[in-house]
Amino acid sequence: MSESHYSLNGKRIILGVTGSIAAYKAVSLLRTLVQAGADVSVVMTQSATRFIAPLTFEVLSKHPVAIDLFSGKQEMMHITWPEHADLIVLAPCTANRMAKYALGLADDLLSTMLMTTQCPVVIAPAMDGEMWDQPALKNHVAVLRERGVTILEPEIGPLASGKWSQGRLPSEEAIVATIEEKLRETQDWVGHHFLISAGPTREPIDAVRFLSNGSSGKMGYELAEAAVARGARVTLVSGPTELAPPPGIEFLSVTTAEEMHQALASKFERATVLIMAAAVGDFRPRQVNPEKFKKQDWNGEPLELERTTDILAALSAQRTHQILVGFAAETSNLLENGQAKLKKKSLDMIVVNQIGGTHSAFGNETNEVILIPRGKTPQPIPRLPKRAVADRILTELHTFTVPASSHQPVSQI
Ligand code: CTP
Repeated sequence: MSESHYSLNGKRIILGVTGSIAAYKAVSLLRTLVQAGADVSVVMTQSATRFIAPLTFEVLSKHPVAIDLFSGKQEMMHITWPEHADLIVLAPCTANRMAKYALGLADDLLSTMLMTTQCPVVIAPAMDGEMWDQPALKNHVAVLRERGVTILEPEIGPLASGKWSQGRLPSEEAIVATIEEKLRETQDWVGHHFLISAGPTREPIDAVRFLSNGSSGKMGYELAEAAVARGARVTLVSGPTELAPPPGIEFLSVTTAEEMHQALASKFERATVLIMAAAVGDFRPRQVNPEKFKKQDWNGEPLELERTTDILAALSAQRTHQILVGFAAETSNLLENGQAKLKKKSLDMIVVNQIGGTHSAFGNETNEVILIPRGKTPQPIPRLPKRAVADRILTELHTFTVPASSHQPVSQI
């Protein structure tokens, strides 16, 4: 499959389906968006559920369909879903829905989401021709367009009423092309190759036991998804995690720190940015017992450890043109410790997060960090979903970009 088929790789889209006979066409749109690499979550209005069963969307999107503001399944969904989305598309969108949106009404889940979102909104209307021509609706369309909402023109053709006029849902091709165009506007990392590490490492003690840590890998995976969504080519080198490899990236699975070092070293030369988000084990057992060690054979000898290679420091010593970003997990003196590591490993930026206590970054959906860019004032970032933190990091990194032409050519990986 050519790259253009994955034009929406890593993009998170909310598909809002409203109560129109054209609701069945949203099923095909959903499939096309998913096939293009998008992660689509569907929100239906109550009246849309009269036309088509939520189960259809649930199966095809692989996510629960949200309908009710008060379902209680997920708290604050009207805020959290739009916060994570790159784009909201309403297809089909009724005249009533556009009126509500233009007036700022927030009386159901979809209208409330539209009130809270900051991301681009694309509307594909479907209605009877006379409704589309109504002066009231024309006003709402004009108001929404003025506010930056993209409203496609409905198509002219036969309508469900049997009449021939302008009111048909725009073609799927037109909707998808508009979504792609809106999302291309944020493709600020095209031409770059991100090498990102994530998750913990495991250092074996014997055939079944190992030393590891509680890193979930989420921050690194979110960085990989954000970078790919912003146009970069991405290689993710991951220790053992519960997470599925994000689509559209090169994924290398490793276990030990040594394997992670080898995998990263093999890709380093071609990378333009290295982000070490992995919680690499600093120590490994000096001896690994190939068999399972029996407890009755232990006479109190201590487990002897040795240091693993500091991968980031080793790659930093070999850097030619790469931008280098480290993470520092600290329990105290965040700023001082972060600054010391930034200097010691000659990094361009370090992301410091607090571990331990209630603020721990490990395993959490959110993260509160301080970005310390080389030569610039440290920037505390408030507690945000990890994807939003990832986007802040990527935006901040532009300080260090060199023109894409001076990078090594980024060939196929
Ligand atoms: N790192 C690495 N190789 C290691 C250990 C850490 O590349 N063997 C990377 C991590 O991915 C992270 C940064 O170095 O980007 C963390 O620096 P480090 O000095 O190891 O900090 P901590 O892991 O927080 O350890 P400590 O505070 O004990 O020094």
